[in-house]
Amino acid sequence: MNIQENISLKNFNTFGIDAKARYFAAFSNSDGLAELLQQETTKKHQRLILGGGSNLLLTKNFDGIVLKNEIRGISLTGEDEMHYYVTSGGGEIWHQFVMHCIENNYAGLENLSLIPGCVGASPMQNIGAYGVEIKDVFHSLQAMNVHDGNIKSFGLEECAFGYRESVFKRKEKDQWVILNVTFRLFKRPVLHTEYGSIGEELDKMNLDNVTIKDVSRAVINIRSSKLPDPLKIGNAGSFFKNPVVPIEIYRNIQLHHNNAPGYPINEQEVKVPAGWLIEKAGWKGKNMGRYGVHDKQALVLVNYGGATGNEIYELSSMIIEDIKSKFNIELEREVNII
Ligand code: FAD
Ligand code: EPU
Repeated sequence: MNIQENISLKNFNTFGIDAKARYFAAFSNSDGLAELLQQETTKKHQRLILGGGSNLLLTKNFDGIVLKNEIRGISLTGEDEMHYYVTSGGGEIWHQFVMHCIENNYAGLENLSLIPGCVGASPMQNIGAYGVEIKDVFHSLQAMNVHDGNIKSFGLEECAFGYRESVFKRKEKDQWVILNVTFRLFKRPVLHTEYGSIGEELDKMNLDNVTIKDVSRAVINIRSSKLPDPLKIGNAGSFFKNPVVPIEIYRNIQLHHNNAPGYPINEQEVKVPAGWLIEKAGWKGKNMGRYGVHDKQALVLVNYGGATGNEIYELSSMIIEDIKSKFNIELEREVNII
């Protein structure tokens, strides 16, 4: 297996940060990965499993080995009365996989259209958008242990999915390489059009019969109007999670802003959109020269070109401090800091 040295990661992360990897290797099947994991260079150094690099902030050169997942292939692996079981290699591009499912009328992923990255990373933070998370359609995944090369199957329970959470970010962090993921998709679509402006967007299309393709188009239109295209402006989507806060804190915010958005989680807790907090604190559209806060979505930090990961990290720390002092809410970063 070919291990390269001193490779720039600029084209391998959507922030476009020009950090280097000491070692870099790609694998396109599980045997190739097993071979790489046995090599001395891999054993002796820290590993970074890389998909599309769309949820990473590189704050320094990576003094270890980057292992890039290029396992391709999508197949229909099972069927029952209600479902199709569709398995995808971890290196498939997520959006292309979603489009493949829509073309074949496998329903359930349409709300997750246009999320950057690879299929193998989708369970890491249980990706979600527009009222759907992958846990809603997840069946199982296969992963290889980085220490002994053993392959294990993980079912829904074992993945311990939560909001932007899974066992792979917690108890099993850095232990597994996700090889492939199987989704349980629907033969008869159940459309989720209640979230945000999907309904409005569909109304504009003036349709008699809404299909999963239409929902996907609506999601793509909304996303394209708010989120920066990483090919044009470096970013990693939402930089922070939406915080879940005790209801007293939310009520306190409402005393000063009676239209403050909030979504009840239970009787004691409310999820508050971090984008709203950041906008209210005056950060939206803030331009620091080479980097800043996106002007259409305050939750997205951007690299206009040439910023370092550290500059963006420092900006995120300033925002966290400011939100803490203004709202008594501690924001948590969603992006993985390397
Ligand atoms: P990477 O950034 O390459 O990796 C992310 C993490 O997963 C790293 O810790 C990495 O080591 C690990 N990892 C990657 N692949 C594997 C593997 N095969 N096995 C084990 N570990 C692995 N996310 C959402 O949830 N919802 C959104 O709506 C959304 N919108 C976005 C919009 C934009 C414009 C951007 C840039 C990002 C957005 N994201 C969103 C974040 C991101 O797209 C997702 O988190 C995506 O799943 C990351 O995939 P990736 O392949 O790029 O992962
Ligand atoms: N808002 C503002 N100002 C802003 C941005 C948002 O006031 O600049 C408020 C508005 O009240 C809006 C609410 O926040 O109604 C929610 O905004 P939006 O629908 O854009 O969603 P979000 O909460 O900011 C989350 C996810 C996104 C996902 C969208 C759509 C997180 C951390 N982010 O964003 O995921 O695409 O919902 O479902 O949960 C990602 O994880 O990278 C990501 C982009």
